[in-house]
Amino acid sequence: MRIAMIGTGYVGLVSGACFSEFGVTVTCVDKDESKIERLKRGEIPIFEPGLDKLVASNAAAGRLHFTTDLTEAVKEADAVFIAVGTPSRRGDGHADLSYVFGAAEEIARAMDGYTVVVTKSTVPVGTGREVERVIRETRADADFDVVSNPEFLREGSAINDFMRPDRVVIGAETERAREVMRQLYRVLYLIETPILFTNLETSEMIKYAANTFLATKITFINEIADLCERAGADVHDVAKGIGLDGRIGRKFLHPGPGYGGSCFPKDTLALVRTARDFGAPLRIVETVVDINDKRKEAMAERIVAAAGGDVKGKTIAILGLAFKPNTDDMRDAPSLAIVPALVAAGAKVRAFDPESMNEARKMMDGVEFCDTAYDTMPGADVLAILTEWNEFRSLNFQRIKELMKAPVMVDLRNVYEPEMMAKAGFTYTSIGRPWPYGKRGGSAG
Ligand code: UDX
Repeated sequence: MRIAMIGTGYVGLVSGACFSEFGVTVTCVDKDESKIERLKRGEIPIFEPGLDKLVASNAAAGRLHFTTDLTEAVKEADAVFIAVGTPSRRGDGHADLSYVFGAAEEIARAMDGYTVVVTKSTVPVGTGREVERVIRETRADADFDVVSNPEFLREGSAINDFMRPDRVVIGAETERAREVMRQLYRVLYLIETPILFTNLETSEMIKYAANTFLATKITFINEIADLCERAGADVHDVAKGIGLDGRIGRKFLHPGPGYGGSCFPKDTLALVRTARDFGAPLRIVETVVDINDKRKEAMAERIVAAAGGDVKGKTIAILGLAFKPNTDDMRDAPSLAIVPALVAAGAKVRAFDPESMNEARKMMDGVEFCDTAYDTMPGADVLAILTEWNEFRSLNFQRIKELMKAPVMVDLRNVYEPEMMAKAGFTYTSIGRPWPYGKRGGSAG
């Protein structure tokens, strides 16, 4: 089998490398010449654990190629994957599909013989049908099927998610197209991965419904956490207590500063817009979007409160800027709401993140970026953990106490235990775990 992967962004590159690992011959295509040159030299433009080795070994085996020549790559392919960006359109929150349709036109002109055209990018319901129309209008004699095959990759564990998925969803409406897709995912049949075949619209809907459901689950536990703080309950035990019910499930019930990243904020918003357009508004998702936006802003207030109600002239040490660990991705990270609010309130902010500081520098003004976690701390009034990188899970408390003005920590990821921090002599604030327990209406502990 031979495929072309159009777009070497996060999804395209990970999917292309993983398909080549499955034994498929893959040509990754991108318009960006310098990116393709770098990829040919084995330089990976994103941070994703294991991706460099996967690309190197499959390129060396002759199964993974990089080119700017779309025509050549598509001509030889049994299937062509569209994995280009679908950013939120400025102004209305709809997904911008111009790159998808642009790719469809180019593919139509280059196709040679029966070709399956697969949308891998996250696209609103109805887009597959539009792609079909674009191809047909560009090339009346084209022999093709359009298939929807959404990705469910988490940044930081994308390779494992691709190789050992909970399920694969494929919207394919002819037996010929289904057979091509079965061949591509042949390896997953061996490990008994459920592969769900649906029509185009259903597959597109599954992707949005999955991400929106997960965003709702996170937002639910975040609100429960706020209530726990007032009521004297421990949100982690609540999450466990409800999650052990198989109907609820334990995953995605970790409270925090609000979800971020390249998918949840964009996809929830796009689904809200789509639902309104169809005259079937998703009020629950509209509320989730609103709560999550406000939550990120409210997190700065927690840090201000820990600083005694005013951060003017005070030094705040920030650990973690990326939207989650094991990625350099800053898109819709809570830090983008929190740090500027602190700077605007007159704080001197010193920050460290193991991978995302190059990105962060472009997005934040008035911040001193430090080389290590401990470099943020000298003379600091408050230390705040914004991302749960492993290296922040075992900080040296003695060293922190020697460096900071006073040991005050705001832990927005619940990396530490309130009791342990109290014993270590810290004034400690986390999410949904008041300390000591039973103190109703007490401050978050
Ligand atoms: C997500 C989906 O998980 C994936 O299936 C989809 O295809 C792409 O979007 P990703 O954005 O990489 O993946 O990250 P994920 O691990 O899902 O986390 C998203 C956000 O939710 C992060 O900001 C994270 O910190 C937050 N989160 C996650 C919580 O606050 N609590 C949780 O329990 C889980």
